Amino acid sequence: MPFPIHRLRRLRKTDAIMRMVRENKVSVDDLIYPLFVCEGKGVKTEISSMPGNYRWSIDLLANEVKECWNLGIPAVILFGIPDKKDARGSEAYNPDGIVQRAIQEIKSAVPEIAVITDVCIDEYTDHGHCGLVENGQILNDPTLELLAKMALTHAEAGADIVAPSDMMDGRVGAIRKALDQSGFGDSIIMSYAAKYASAFYGPFREAADSSPQFGDRCSYQMDPANGEESVREVAQDIEEGADIVMVKPALSYLDVIYKIKKEFSVPLAAYNVSGEYSMAHAASEKGWLDGDRVIMEVLLSIKRAGAQMILTYSAKHAAKIIQNIVP
Ligand code: PBG
Repeated sequence: MPFPIHRLRRLRKTDAIMRMVRENKVSVDDLIYPLFVCEGKGVKTEISSMPGNYRWSIDLLANEVKECWNLGIPAVILFGIPDKKDARGSEAYNPDGIVQRAIQEIKSAVPEIAVITDVCIDEYTDHGHCGLVENGQILNDPTLELLAKMALTHAEAGADIVAPSDMMDGRVGAIRKALDQSGFGDSIIMSYAAKYASAFYGPFREAADSSPQFGDRCSYQMDPANGEESVREVAQDIEEGADIVMVKPALSYLDVIYKIKKEFSVPLAAYNVSGEYSMAHAASEKGWLDGDRVIMEVLLSIKRAGAQMILTYSAKHAAKIIQNIVP
């Protein structure tokens, strides 16, 4: 494309021309909003490291979800904060647990919205790990049964999509089998397929009270140094029955998103995680960055990399920006 025959600036001459040649766009259809649900009544507690995000009690949750739906957001993902924790995370698969009740409440108030649930026991275990623990080791196979039970109680309560985030090997297969055996063959699995052991989860662990009480998550979450390995993780999850796969975090892993998009043809989600939100928010509060522009640029970059769904704490705000609703 030699100059001066070709001048790439021609296509940047006016806004109308730029709109015509624009390759990617962030739509409200792409957004999934994470919500934290806790016990109690009338609770709306702001998460200090994630301003604008709250822990909600079930009675206030439906209104918040309705607001999301009215903004055009098609889905929410729920995280539960139980009152009681134990070594086996029993509340995670209690049919009357916090998330199970929240699903029912949302489904009766806003039946149209897609309800996704995080399937992982870390918020429910007293040790804070995503699997059962024995002698300081995280046990893989015995955990699968609990995850399958947890996913099934979510489907029974009315969840449209279950999203295992634990990173145990074989969990997608175990969940698919449990759902199919109980008549939930239509329930969708969105697997956190390539989930890295990331420092960007810091604010989430404050929000969900889920920090590991000893050690770290490096024996089950992926090593941030590994790109190729994500292909094997995703391939395995698809083979086991994942309908949608996810890369997490998003911003430092755009290469992984790109790689997975090139390699597979299943719907791809990316999680714009808590630390990514908090960084942009803090810098914007200090006046160092234009927060709105940064939010939209980040979401756009995740789409450009190849994700078609984005889980983001900015979902409501981004929906307002996209639709020119002044907050
Ligand atoms: C595990 C889970 C985590 C996140 C989503 N699901 C925390 C972790 O793996 O430590 C992190 C999400 C975020 O940082 O926004 N239940």
